[in-house]
Amino acid sequence: MKIRFKLNNKDIEYCGPPMARLIDFIRDTMGVTSCKIGCGEGECGACSVLIDGRLALACITPVGQVRNKSVLTVEGIRDTREFSILKRSFEEHGSVQCGFCIPGMILAAYSLLKSTPNPREEEIREAISGNLCRCTGYLSIIEAIKSAAREVEKL
Ligand code: FES
Ligand code: FES
Repeated sequence: MKIRFKLNNKDIEYCGPPMARLIDFIRDTMGVTSCKIGCGEGECGACSVLIDGRLALACITPVGQVRNKSVLTVEGIRDTREFSILKRSFEEHGSVQCGFCIPGMILAAYSLLKSTPNPREEEIREAISGNLCRCTGYLSIIEAIKSAAREVEKL
């Protein structure tokens, strides 16, 4: 079956079973590897993508579900000012250890800052609540997002 959608702002024509996992198409066919496979069961957030701007889990999303939609990974937001600010803030706050969770964290934060320019700490915690990090204890990530939010608000 043919399914058209956008991946990182490029037109894609997927030919295959509509129930195939989006994560496998993104990584194996398209070679977009910021998206990770962790649990594979919708529990860890490592495979996070934005679908029409909303955070979604590519390991439990069938390709058929993104027909005519826009799918973004970190590669697709790299040129945005929000991404630059988040990246710098994560670096400055020492928020990256093994890095496995970070693309998903960045997408969760990016999506939050797009919809809520000056989020409260509870909103930040809620926004990243589906993204598990085994290394950092979350505090440095939350501080990085808080600090980035202050800068993004001035854009
Ligand atoms: S790999 Fe998708 S939520 Fe864990
Ligand atoms: S930095 Fe290692 S899982 Fe988050």
